[in-house]
Amino acid sequence: MKIIIAFLFLAGFSICLFTCTSRYKGGDDPRGAAYAGAASCVQCHGEIAGSYAHSNHFKTSSETDFESVRKIITSLNDTVRFPGGQLVVLEAAGKKIAQTYMLNGEWAASRQMDLAFGSGEKAWTFGYWKDEQLYQLPLTYLSELKRWTNSPGFPADHPNYGRLIVGRCMECHSSYATVQNSLEQGMNYTEKIAASSIIYGIDCERCHGPAAQHVAFHKDNPGVKSARFMTAIGSLSRQQQLDLCGTCHSGDPVTLKSIFAFVPGDSLSNYYMYYPGAAANPDAHGMQMQSLMQSQCFLQSDLTCTSCHDTHIKESNKREVFVQRCMSCHLKSDHAVTMAGAKNDCINCHMPLEASKSLDFNNSAEHSGVSYRLRTHRIAIYPAPEGK
Ligand code: HEC
Ligand code: HEC
Ligand code: HEC
Ligand code: HEC
Ligand code: HEC
Ligand code: HEC
Ligand code: HEC
Repeated sequence: MKIIIAFLFLAGFSICLFTCTSRYKGGDDPRGAAYAGAASCVQCHGEIAGSYAHSNHFKTSSETDFESVRKIITSLNDTVRFPGGQLVVLEAAGKKIAQTYMLNGEWAASRQMDLAFGSGEKAWTFGYWKDEQLYQLPLTYLSELKRWTNSPGFPADHPNYGRLIVGRCMECHSSYATVQNSLEQGMNYTEKIAASSIIYGIDCERCHGPAAQHVAFHKDNPGVKSARFMTAIGSLSRQQQLDLCGTCHSGDPVTLKSIFAFVPGDSLSNYYMYYPGAAANPDAHGMQMQSLMQSQCFLQSDLTCTSCHDTHIKESNKREVFVQRCMSCHLKSDHAVTMAGAKNDCINCHMPLEASKSLDFNNSAEHSGVSYRLRTHRIAIYPAPEGK
């Protein structure tokens, strides 16, 4: 009984989390009238909405939640040193946290952490607003190491407050943002993001496409139990399913038009032009699609991303779930059966952690070249991991 009550409580809480954090109700969605807004799915898809609220996709961008950030600032861990007496200090005051630049003990600059990128599963980086432009702050938090460090790709010799967060980050880390860019003669490139247009996190319609008609139909026809005005992703071709995930998981190619317009069934070739050779040696960061496509599992079966991932549920670090997914195909391998029986983790051996070649963290004073490590999706036989 207690368990049931606890479960009901959790379910209610999850749904509240979802509706309460969704800023748009049906009808006033900044993407237009074809979109219903995430809050409108809860009524009929309560279970999915409840679990999805905890997913990293849903939490991948937000206005900074000061309480969560405050938790990870401790007295030992709120300063990052740069060479030559330069420091960046995290300062909490009231409900705001700022990254403050000190030079030889003197205050030099300070900016508030207005916006957070990343769920914090691996990293959190922050932005601040100035004249409708969004800039990235110098310090990023690395969850695995539990420490703050210079943001990736930032200069190592001084804290940088001048890097724009462009609309492109929004395309993969949010559901929508209106972006206006301009390149005036002899002037800097600017991108203005309308703060009020941002739909933070990846919501249902970011993957499933506009659903206002679907919602309206099913509200008017509660007796109809099969979906109308909604693409069934599972019935799309393999390539179409890969392309859906590939909008954000196939690297950063030349963009022909904004992927905000992508809907399930669409083709990535309408949006992206890949650099020649980019697929040959795909980065572990952001290029899961190309890596997977080099695996024998992919080449010799009809595997897609959803063979292993249920994106409605937060499954990160649930290794036993992934081992089961491997075993859905590898029951004929005596080796695999033995390993699974002995609770040996397939992933450590066959999808080892790999450092990103495109991202690392460096501020030369405290540490240089801290790598960003992810699971390679080129599933294969690798030399035994160190220490084994
Ligand atoms: C008034 C009820 C209602 C609302 C609101 C609603 N749906 Fe549905 N939806 C249904 C019904 C009924 C089905 C068919 C049964 C099922 O798959 O659950 C369905 C099915 C689906 C499917 C599966 C399609 C398939 O064939 O595989 C998706 C995806 C979906 N809905 C997305 C959404 C999204 C996104 C929202 C919010 C924007 C939403 N729905 C809001 C009633 C609703
Ligand atoms: C709109 C862009 C976008 C689309 C579309 C997208 N993803 Fe993601 N995905 C992301 C981002 C951004 C993250 C990083 C989330 C974070 O901040 O931790 C992510 C993270 C993930 C993770 C790690 C989640 C975790 O819990 O750590 C998995 C697995 C994943 N995506 C699978 C998929 C699959 C499968 C699809 C297709 C059904 C898909 N993604 C579609 C952008 C996207
Ligand atoms: C990251 C992309 C992504 C997001 C975000 C997402 N879905 Fe899905 N959804 C999928 C994929 C992929 C499938 C097909 C799964 C399959 O074929 O196994 C699916 C299937 C479904 C289905 C039908 C099958 C089922 O699992 O019941 C429904 C209903 C649905 N989604 C509703 C939602 C709702 C409601 C939300 C928001 C709370 C949502 N989805 C968010 C990718 C997504
Ligand atoms: C092409 C899509 C894409 C673009 C563009 C993109 N990201 Fe990401 N980002 C991802 C994906 C996918 C992940 C998670 C998986 C991975 O690293 O492969 C991720 C991970 C992250 C994380 C770590 C999240 C976590 O906790 O795991 C942060 C922080 C982040 N991105 C910030 C940014 C910022 C800031 C920008 C713009 C400068 C940006 N990203 C541009 C797709 C993208
Ligand atoms: C949809 C089915 C499917 C799934 C799921 C799947 N595989 Fe495979 N895998 C295959 C097929 C088919 C082959 C090629 C024939 C063989 O070696 O069994 C293969 C080959 C392999 C190989 C040999 C690779 C090589 O280069 O020789 C390894 C190792 C492997 N899989 C590990 C895994 C692991 C680990 C998982 C889970 C994370 C997994 N597989 C999930 C179908 C699958
Ligand atoms: C054969 C199984 C399998 C397939 C297919 C698969 N993944 Fe994964 N994926 C995994 C495993 C296992 C992890 C590690 C999960 C963990 O440790 O939490 C993972 C992790 C991830 C992560 C988080 C990055 C990290 O290193 O933790 C992302 C993003 C991701 N997958 C995206 C995708 C996308 C996109 C596709 C399709 C192109 C895909 N995956 C296909 C098994 C798979
Ligand atoms: C300690 C590391 C390790 C673990 C854990 C491990 N493997 Fe392997 N695996 C190997 C090595 C090494 C080979 C190649 C030599 C061989 O065939 O035994 C291999 C071969 C394979 C092959 C291809 C040969 C065959 O027997 O079919 C598959 C498929 C495979 N592994 C799947 C899995 C699955 C699924 C799991 C988890 C249940 C797993 N492995 C766990 C190291 C490992």
